[in-house]
Amino acid sequence: MNGIHPVSGARQIGAPVIQAVGMNIAAALRVRRRGYAGWTGAVNTDYDPLDPATAAQPFDAYRGLYASGRVHYNPRRATWILSRHDDIRAALRNTDAITSTQGVTRMKISAPILVLTDGADHARMRRQVQPGFTKGAMSDWQPMADRLARELVADLIANPGCDVVSRLATPFPIRMIAHILGIPPGDVDRFRSWSEDGVGVMNAALTPAGLRQAFGGIRAIAALRRYFSEQLAAGRLTGTDTVLGRLVDHNEDGELSDDELFFFAMLLLFAGNETTTNLIGGMFDTLAHNPEQFAMIRDHPELIPGAVEEQLRYSTPIQNLYRYTRTDYRVGEVTIPSGSRLLLAFGAANRDPDVFDDPDTYRANRNPHSHIAFGYGAHMCIGAALTRMEGQAVLRELTSQAAAITAVGSTTWSTNTSLRGPTHLPIRLTPA
Ligand code: HEM
Repeated sequence: MNGIHPVSGARQIGAPVIQAVGMNIAAALRVRRRGYAGWTGAVNTDYDPLDPATAAQPFDAYRGLYASGRVHYNPRRATWILSRHDDIRAALRNTDAITSTQGVTRMKISAPILVLTDGADHARMRRQVQPGFTKGAMSDWQPMADRLARELVADLIANPGCDVVSRLATPFPIRMIAHILGIPPGDVDRFRSWSEDGVGVMNAALTPAGLRQAFGGIRAIAALRRYFSEQLAAGRLTGTDTVLGRLVDHNEDGELSDDELFFFAMLLLFAGNETTTNLIGGMFDTLAHNPEQFAMIRDHPELIPGAVEEQLRYSTPIQNLYRYTRTDYRVGEVTIPSGSRLLLAFGAANRDPDVFDDPDTYRANRNPHSHIAFGYGAHMCIGAALTRMEGQAVLRELTSQAAAITAVGSTTWSTNTSLRGPTHLPIRLTPA
């Protein structure tokens, strides 16, 4: 089966691989349009992050990628793939060659928002938002994280067999963001419902139901927009202990408009909700299936911060993001041509056997400091400290309130191409 791919010029290896004869003409044309017809030494692969079954369980595919080379190419998706830890970090460092300005997902998109800028523009925007996430901010928000974790874990104990995703992993980050934004308690329920519907836009499929979901999401974002305008006009949401208030107080680049404040609030909702839900849901799945690890954390609560770090590595809530090359980019013997779409498989890098010993095993005491679940380099997650605070608060409450976690049904995993986590996980907590 090994040989040179007649269209892409890439080397083919072992089964299953994309066969040139089986490749459809549209895909071949796409490959041609991208100017990728010569030998580059990349290994052709049929690893397809868009395939729902692969997205739900990508780990066999990752093992196949490590075994077969450093740089892969999927001709059907016209996508280059990096999966090794060192290669992905090097790519994330080199924003001259590998840019975020043309999008970080499969869809090419440019917009003047933090995650889609590079260089000086990015540094300026990052300076604007950083005051929202200082140590002082974290300590202001810690009591809320602790209280929410206590209430929601107690609620799980009181409802054996309930779905931990809808009962705790979903409401926890949304209620934290509502708190951080200073949404008055009486408005939290409608804020939550708009937020959940609004974030749903990102997952909407191209089906009639998906389109209905997308329209519902757009309506919800419009409702959030109206709500923010009214609140900001009335001088609310910018108190000193809110995230927007901190931005206004520390902004050095002139006054922030209401539009800018609204977009920042949306960025928090979109970047911080489902990711944290996936982390927390993943933590319940892991601990339910590794009871000896849960027992170890209960016996040694000092392991809690490291156990959350290991969960970040192990579940990697953002499994991959894209970049686009703006010059030819060399990785080992392979040159990825300028103008290519490049997938960075964070989930694979976090299980790279050259970096993490026995990578498919969760070890609460591993201390995996070099994981890249929050990305790496200039765009590294600004919500990392908040996420850690939330994950640790939940784990602290779990270990103090529960003696054991039992999965009372199987876990359903999302089939989203990039954001991975449980969508349903019925559990029972044995009270401590
Ligand atoms: C488990 C939870 C989370 C994970 C796994 C995660 C992961 C990531 C990753 C991988 C990036 C890098 C994006 C890139 O390189 O293009 C990122 C950036 C970012 N994250 Fe998070 N994130 C999480 C939670 C949060 C939270 C709670 C917030 C805010 C409330 C947040 C806000 C952001 C923002 C604003 C960026 C863009 C930073 C920039 O472009 O400079 N994230 N996150």
